[in-house]
Amino acid sequence: MALLDIRNLSVSFETPQGLVKAATQVSLALEYNETLALVGETGCGKSVVVNAIMKLLPANAKVDGRVIYRGRDLLSLDEKEMARIRGQDIAIIFQNPSLALNPVYKISEQVSESMILKKRSSRSRAEEISSQLLQRLGLKGRESSYPFQLSGGMNQRAMIACSVVLGPKIIIADEPTKGLDQSMVGQVLGEIRKAKEVNGASLLLITHDMEVARQISDKVAVMYCGEVMEVGKTEEVLQAPSHPYTQALLDSLPERGFLPIPGPSPSMIDPPEGCRFHPRCPWRRDLCSIERPVQKSTTTGWVRCCR
Ligand SMILES: Nc1ncnc2c1ncn2[C@@H]1O[C@H](COP(=O)(O)OP(=O)(O)OP(=O)(O)O)[C@@H](O)[C@H]1O
Ligand SMILES: [Mg+2]
Repeated sequence: MALLDIRNLSVSFETPQGLVKAATQVSLALEYNETLALVGETGCGKSVVVNAIMKLLPANAKVDGRVIYRGRDLLSLDEKEMARIRGQDIAIIFQNPSLALNPVYKISEQVSESMILKKRSSRSRAEEISSQLLQRLGLKGRESSYPFQLSGGMNQRAMIACSVVLGPKIIIADEPTKGLDQSMVGQVLGEIRKAKEVNGASLLLITHDMEVARQISDKVAVMYCGEVMEVGKTEEVLQAPSHPYTQALLDSLPERGFLPIPGPSPSMIDPPEGCRFHPRCPWRRDLCSIERPVQKSTTTGWVRCCR
């Protein structure tokens, strides 16, 4: 039994332009202590999937499917029950620390506040724990700083501390390295990995950066136009991809020749029939435009392709 079992999760948004099919029958399992990277180009539905797990989608979202965590379907919980899960069981690290941190509180206060509120810890105990955590994340001596007094990387670490202080079993990080310069990427990934290990947690990492996925994940899931196309062990997916889209994504990396994926990105309102990648696929056959491919097993996972 996986720690988090996402089954046939579909999300659509009612918009004036039409129904946006942002995620279609997404099935993914996050195992205990595992790091799963969810990759795919911009707009393919990665954030929608994690926000659906956390029940943080706006009111125009229609959500179907199940998200089983410790035997309970999160999608069936009411807001009060879900508020208890957020932070304590499942924590999310958002991309932008300046939006997630409060500018008028010291970082140590921001970390200890959730312990006081959610775990009903005493102030002194909460301060002790938050100070230890900040020190482990390399912010010793900076506990009493305000966010504006810290560098972007330090704020990122402060935010990681806020996310993991309650000892969540699942850490979700949505593009935590987007926009960081290369020297910071390794550091931030290191901190997230450390936080995961300290907690004995599992990590669901959203990234469009295959190199980040290679460095940190055990398993990779590749998303295209709202669907998961391939899942497998990281080495297998990156070295011997089974889906033509995964191959195209890898070929578009600078170190592999920067080959752009031919053709335009698909519409999420009117996605291609059959396999959603078929209009851009060099291997397409007639069947691909008619039938949605079924999942087929690979050595370490599965692929959705009729080739
Ligand atoms: N509230 C919303 N209303 C309508 N459409 C939305 C809404 N939120 C997301 N979408 C659409 O859903 C699709 C998936 O968006 P999502 O943010 O999950 O992409 P992503 O894979 O996270 O992209 P990025 O890598 O740029 O963060 C996009 O087409 C987006 O425009
Ligand atoms: Mg996103």
